[in-house]
Amino acid sequence: MKYFTTTSKASKRAADCVIVGIYERGKLGAGAIDIDAASGGTVKRLIKNGDLSGNLGNCTVLNDVAGVRAARVVVVGLGKTGAFDLAKFGRAFAAALRAISRTKSRQVLNCLTLEDAGGAGSYYLARQTAQVVGEVLYRFTQMKSVKKNAGMPLSKVGLAIAGRGDASKSMRGVEHGSAIASGMSLAKDLGNLPPNICTPSYLARAAQKLARENKKIQTRVLSEAEMKRLGMHSLLSVTHGTNQPAKLIVMQYKGKAGAKPIVLVGKGVTFDSGGISLKPGPGMDEMKFDMCGAAGVMGTIAAVAKLKLPINVNVVIPTVENMPGGLASRPGDVVKSMSGLTIEILNTDAEGRLILCDALTYARRFKPETIIDVATLTGACVVALGHHRTAVMSNNDKLSAEIVSAGIAAEDRGWPLPLADEYAKQLDSNFADMANVGGRDGGAITAGCFLAKFTDGMNWAHLDIAGTAWKTGKQKGATGRPVPMLTEFVLARCGALP
Ligand code: BES
Ligand code: MN
Ligand code: ZN
Repeated sequence: MKYFTTTSKASKRAADCVIVGIYERGKLGAGAIDIDAASGGTVKRLIKNGDLSGNLGNCTVLNDVAGVRAARVVVVGLGKTGAFDLAKFGRAFAAALRAISRTKSRQVLNCLTLEDAGGAGSYYLARQTAQVVGEVLYRFTQMKSVKKNAGMPLSKVGLAIAGRGDASKSMRGVEHGSAIASGMSLAKDLGNLPPNICTPSYLARAAQKLARENKKIQTRVLSEAEMKRLGMHSLLSVTHGTNQPAKLIVMQYKGKAGAKPIVLVGKGVTFDSGGISLKPGPGMDEMKFDMCGAAGVMGTIAAVAKLKLPINVNVVIPTVENMPGGLASRPGDVVKSMSGLTIEILNTDAEGRLILCDALTYARRFKPETIIDVATLTGACVVALGHHRTAVMSNNDKLSAEIVSAGIAAEDRGWPLPLADEYAKQLDSNFADMANVGGRDGGAITAGCFLAKFTDGMNWAHLDIAGTAWKTGKQKGATGRPVPMLTEFVLARCGALP
C-alpha cells in the first residue's frame, strides 16, 4: 500500500474516490464543506432531502459530482458534533472503505480529520488510517479451496492534512501504523488457523520464519527434554495428555546493545479442551484461540523489528496442547515448578498459569527491565470486563498506569484489576505450596495472584486478553489485540513518539 499526504482541497484532487464526513444535524466536516461549495450546494441539498445520514458510519457513495475532480465522493456519518475522536475516526473511515469495496477505486483520498489534528494528533490520525486499511483489507482464506472475495483493489491512500508542517509526523504515523497492522495480521493469521494445523510445532516454525525474515531477530526453540532438564514440571504436566510435543519458543530482538530487555511472555495453548476437567461442548472450537497471547507477542516483536526500534525486546512462548488422555494430569496431582514451588492441580482446565509460571521463571535469566505476560487466561475476565477492555494487573502501579495509557493512545484499551493478598489467600492448598485455582469469585484476579508468586523482584504486569483477543458469533475471528497496545508501550519506552 502506498500513502501520501496532501494539502489540496477535496474537490481539486484527482482520485478514484474522496471520503468526506458530515455530523448529525447536518453540520459538515471540512472536506464536505469544500465539496459542497465546489458542487453548488449538492451536499447540503442531499442532507435537506434526507438522502445523507450523519449517524456514525452511515455511508453514501455519490458518482460524478459536478465540480469535483474525483470520480466518487463517499459521504460518511461522523455522529455527534464534538464527540468525534480517534476511535470514531477509525470507525467512520473503516465504514467508508467498506462502502467503496465494491467499486473499482484504487486510489482514495481520506479527508476526514479531527478538529485538533495538529502535532501529535496528526501522527495518531495517520497511524489509525494505516491500521484501519490493514484491518479492512484483512482476509483469512488459507483454508478455503476456492479463494473468492479477493478483497478490494486499493493501492494508494491519501491523507488530507491541514498544512505541510504535519507531513512528516503523518508519514511517521503511517509507517508505525503499517507495522502495527502487519503485526496484527500475523497475530490474526496464527489465531485463526485451525488447531490441527497451528500446533506448538507450527508456532515454533512461525517464530523461526520471523527470524529468517528479520536479521535482528534470533529464535531458539527448547524441546521437552531441555525443559525437563530445567525442571519445568508444571509446564510439562499440561502436555501429558497429547501427542503434540510442547515447545518453549525464545525470540530476541536486538536494537540497542547492552540494554536490559523488555520481555513479553505469551500463552500458547494451541487447543484447550480443559484436559481431564473437560470443558463443555458448545463453543469449544473457540479454544483454538487459546494461543492468542503467543500470537500477540509474536506480532509485537515483528512490528518492533520492522520499525528497527532502538530497544531490546525478548519473547518467551510456552506452547502446549491441553488434552485429556490416559497419561494426562489428574485433579489432585502435585507438580514442582521450575522455581521450586509446588502446585496442587485441582482443575486441569486452569492450565495457562501452569505453563506461564515456568516461562516467567525461565525469563529471569534475561534480567528484564520489564516483563509483561499476555494470556487468554480466564473466563472470569470476560465476565468482569466483557469484550472491550483487556485486564491489566501488575505488582507495580506505575507500570500498570503506563500500560493503561498506552492502551488509550493506541485505541486498544485496558483496565486495571487489583492484585492483593486477600485474593491470593484463595489459592491456599492443604497439600502443596499453592493450588492452581482459587474458586469462582474474582477468578481473573486469583489467576493474576498465582502468577505474581513467580515474579518476585521483577517489574511485571499481566494482561488477560480472554475477552479481547477474538470475536465470537458471525464475525468469529482473531482481533490482533493487544498488538497496538504493546507496540505503543514499546514506542513510548524508546522515545519514538512525537
Ligand atoms: N483458556 C481458558 C480461559 C478462557 C475461557 C478464555 C473462555 C476465554 C473464554 C483457561 O485455560 C481456562 O479454562 N480457565 C478456567 C479457569 C478455572 C478452571 C479456574 C476458566 O476460566 O474457566
Ligand atoms: Mn483451560
Ligand atoms: Zn486455556
